Amino acid sequence: MLGDLVELRAMDTSDAEALWRWNHDPAVMRWMENGHPQSPARTAARLTERAPNGYGDVLLGVEVPEDGKLIGLVRLTGAEPETGCAELTLYIGEKEYWGRGYATDATRTVCRYGFEEMRLHRIELDVVTENHAALRVYRKVGFVEEGRLRQVFRRNGRWYDMFVMGLLEGDLRS
Ligand SMILES: CC(C)(COP(=O)(O)OP(=O)(O)OC[C@H]1O[C@@H](n2cnc3c(N)ncnc32)[C@H](O)[C@@H]1OP(=O)(O)O)[C@@H](O)C(=O)NCCC(=O)NCCS
Repeated sequence: MLGDLVELRAMDTSDAEALWRWNHDPAVMRWMENGHPQSPARTAARLTERAPNGYGDVLLGVEVPEDGKLIGLVRLTGAEPETGCAELTLYIGEKEYWGRGYATDATRTVCRYGFEEMRLHRIELDVVTENHAALRVYRKVGFVEEGRLRQVFRRNGRWYDMFVMGLLEGDLRS
């Protein structure tokens, strides 16, 4: 699906090298849960073995049409017809593409897909309160803080709080 600046498209095994690199880049993963280190082969296997994109889990690569470069990913997980609610994950793994509006456009584009095509009612996410660039992106698009989870994220021996943010159908800002 096409945004103003990015194209969102399905990912496959050929994206594994980029995914592994992003997941092992401390600057990219600074405020993200990244679990334990995995081998490049395991990362490729995860892409191959995952179920096809479907209502409960839509994983999309963020590509820049201008140069055909894959720069990050977005994912909507946990949607159920009874709740119409899904959780958003976002990151731009290619750091030289930061600060050019790509995350904002990718977020808008995937949220539009969630509301218009999947008929979601609500999209939510958790973000570390210190992750100022991500907070700015989410607020620009229309997400609002709904709560604060105290000392729920641990990094380098320190606890950090997270905001729970939500975006309701009809509140997406263009
Ligand atoms: C956070 C992230 C998604 C932003 O991506 P991006 O493509 O640079 O975002 P955009 O260019 O669309 O917008 C960034 C906004 O944050 C602002 N910003 C950047 N650094 C900032 C900072 N330290 N403090 C406040 N605002 C900041 C930018 O000025 C811009 O706002 P503006 O358009 O009003 O000027 C990207 O840096 C990233 O993927 N980081 C690592 C993973 C991550 O943290 N993901 C989110 C997890 S919840």
